[in-house]
Amino acid sequence: MFSKETYSSRREKLRSLLKSEEGIAVFIGNVEAPAQYKDNCYKFRQDSTWLYYFGIDKPGFAAILDLDSGAETIYADDVSIDDIIWMGPQPSVAEQASLVGVSHSAPYSKLDWAVSQAIIQGRPIHTIPPSRYYNTLKLQSLGIDKPSEALIRAIISMRLVKAPEEIVELDAAGVLGQKMHTVARKGIRIGRIEQEIVGEMEGVTLSEGWGVSFATILTQHGEVFHNHGHSAKIEPGRLMVIDAGAESNSHYASDFTRTYPTGGHYTPKQRDIYQIVYDCHELAFSMIRPGVAYRDVHLAASRLMLDRLSQLGLVKGDLEEMVASGVAGLFMPHGLGHNMGLDVHDMEDLGEDLVGYDPDQTRAKQLGLGSLRMARRLVPGNVITDEPGIYFIPDLIEMWKKEGRPFVNYAALREGYYDFGGIRIEDDVLVTSDGARRLGGTRLPASPDEVEAAMAADRG
Ligand code: GLY
Repeated sequence: MFSKETYSSRREKLRSLLKSEEGIAVFIGNVEAPAQYKDNCYKFRQDSTWLYYFGIDKPGFAAILDLDSGAETIYADDVSIDDIIWMGPQPSVAEQASLVGVSHSAPYSKLDWAVSQAIIQGRPIHTIPPSRYYNTLKLQSLGIDKPSEALIRAIISMRLVKAPEEIVELDAAGVLGQKMHTVARKGIRIGRIEQEIVGEMEGVTLSEGWGVSFATILTQHGEVFHNHGHSAKIEPGRLMVIDAGAESNSHYASDFTRTYPTGGHYTPKQRDIYQIVYDCHELAFSMIRPGVAYRDVHLAASRLMLDRLSQLGLVKGDLEEMVASGVAGLFMPHGLGHNMGLDVHDMEDLGEDLVGYDPDQTRAKQLGLGSLRMARRLVPGNVITDEPGIYFIPDLIEMWKKEGRPFVNYAALREGYYDFGGIRIEDDVLVTSDGARRLGGTRLPASPDEVEAAMAADRG
């Protein structure tokens, strides 16, 4: 938790951004989510916007900011003797509220009364889109039927620019994520089961942090993006994509991807493709600086990728025409990166386009570019991922072939790449005042030579 001044000044700034608005802003923190019965709950994770403005990392809290009077009230229930029996003594709601600079508190049930009074008085009610089903139901029961774009935009404008104390937390989450990845790389051995490595790497973040920042991707089928099945045996000659990150105890996220040759050495074909992805990754990093639109960085990486794939004979035609028609999307159907912060895909619950696009930018429809979640002109304090990849997805390639899409050497892909899998390389990047720096500690091995040397050292 940060200092009470941090939370007070964030709320003050929020109110100043909303000075042309009237009414109340209602914030609903998360509640416990039972897994089967009410007392066996999933591990509690607080709502990130709540954490940003109110910090209290406990279930069953809500708050109202009165935009007209400036009054702030936190709503939650003090523990009962039953709670004390099961959970031990807890600080009072008033004590917890004072730690984040809020001087008024009331029982949770009074939230309904306060909102209903505002509705009766015809005052505007500002909320954000609910990210959990409970919050959806709660907002419905409060009679709040739609989120407030003014509030959403104000929150996004603040959370997009990380303050120095947040960057410290993001660096720490990066260090922990890199530690997870190092343990995973050392665990890669032919004949082991993928799940064994997942357990080893997730143990690192469970020992030192909150846990994983998203469900770990560890697979020899990197062409399947969110492949969470880990039952396969590690086979020789394959590529293993490991996309995983840590969430720190303060709930800041990291997100790294590396792609390893299971036997410790890339085949010449794997190395050719890996080198392209690596060069795109480096190009993107070299372009990141204030004022540059991340959409243009995505397009520059796509251009380089297509140029190099054409040298391998996998695509053919005029480079600019290929870029414009979105051929890169066949090989990289995702975007170059996303925002990061308290969420691994920061604030996407508030609306992907509002978070990732400047008001004058329109999201493309093309595969690949259309999946780009961060297109904005960069400003210092943005934290984004740089994660190009190349994947050979047989069903997608066959579909494009059937549709007669030009520029692609379908025969070469079918003959040589349908069992290739995929490659992705990802680092987390802070936009600084004059450029960029990678978050975390010592960078994970990334170039093909660095990866092979690290794996050789791991194996003695
Ligand atoms: N690293 C997982 C994702 O961005 O979806």
